[in-house]
Amino acid sequence: MFDINKIRSDFPILNRTVNNKPLVYFDNGATGQKPKQVIDALVNYYSNQNSNIHRGVHTLSREITIAYEEARQTIASHINAKQVSEIVFTKGTTESINLVTYCFGKIELNEGDEILITEMEHHSNIIPWQIVCEEKKAVLKYIPINEAGELILEKLPQLITSKTKLVAFTHISNTLGTINPVKEMIVQIRSLCKAAVLIDGAQAVPHLKPDVQDLDCDFYVFSGHKLFGPTGVGILYAKQHWLEKFPPYQTGGGTIKTVTLEKTEFADPPLKFEAGTPHIEGGIGLAAAISYVNAIGFEAIQKHENTLLDYATKKLLEIEDIRIYGTSKHKTSVLSFNVGNIHPFDVGSILDKYGVAIRSGHHCTQPICKFYNIPGTIRASFAFYNTVEEIDVFIAALKKAIRLLS
Ligand code: ALA
Repeated sequence: MFDINKIRSDFPILNRTVNNKPLVYFDNGATGQKPKQVIDALVNYYSNQNSNIHRGVHTLSREITIAYEEARQTIASHINAKQVSEIVFTKGTTESINLVTYCFGKIELNEGDEILITEMEHHSNIIPWQIVCEEKKAVLKYIPINEAGELILEKLPQLITSKTKLVAFTHISNTLGTINPVKEMIVQIRSLCKAAVLIDGAQAVPHLKPDVQDLDCDFYVFSGHKLFGPTGVGILYAKQHWLEKFPPYQTGGGTIKTVTLEKTEFADPPLKFEAGTPHIEGGIGLAAAISYVNAIGFEAIQKHENTLLDYATKKLLEIEDIRIYGTSKHKTSVLSFNVGNIHPFDVGSILDKYGVAIRSGHHCTQPICKFYNIPGTIRASFAFYNTVEEIDVFIAALKKAIRLLS
């Protein structure tokens, strides 16, 4: 049963006040809050388990190596990876994408090849491709978006050619909330070319459970902190054959089988890609977060979040001069909007006085802002621990902000 009071009691931060008002945290697109189960896993790590992995024969080191590799298994099972070695721990989504662009660029891209991404990507799924395409004299193309903030997929057959080597797109837009039809897109891409497919799952994993085998994507990337786990840890899922073919991204301790003064033989994946001491407690904390959300269940999470989205959309649209960006029927609990010509930062600052945390700005998606010809948006993004009552507080504060700023 979905017990919102019980769930909220698991998140210590939801009890705090901001500017003497109860915190209303609607910036879940930026980062999720952490349940005590995750915090306890981190405290337990430093209180009882702290040691380095894969390096010692002593008990602590052996215990923590087992715990870290169990965390990798939890993550592999969660996204239904075929094998645990397809899970690489990284710093986050951004590093996962950089790893793929670097390695893929090095071995697969030649002059004149094409990479296809979309106009709704976060900057972290644009810039690395721009750089690698410039270096390799490859061509970067974009799937355009429509006014509703959806991909214009009718353009796919024109955009894909025999030179398309990789197609990368977000599962859910961080600014618009649009849920892209990723499975159908992959089926269509596979019918048109042999390109590899990368999905940016950063905004998807707090709301749904991806099945990478069912999707048949080559790469799926996400961050731990948006999935209610620690910051500084993320995941690259890659099909095994890519990890075997890819050169190391960074090198150093932990990545090798043997080193002589003449040469180095690298370890098998995933260790080949995990140079240096990793974010051990991050991996363990992320596994704790995954166990936590699975105990609630994504069906219940989605049902609750859809209630919040519908209610907040209705309330927002009652306000004069509101424009919502991202009006797809298939969207998650993200509401980006502006009110007349009021600057999003001004609204954000006033909402903060009422204890309401939202994000204002371009959300690292300047091409989306250019498309709508706006400097940015006010973005409220909800998680499963948010409530209808909090939306009422937000709407009342927003109305006061509008009165002050008009
Ligand atoms: N990418 C995160 C966001 O959308 C930080 O806010």
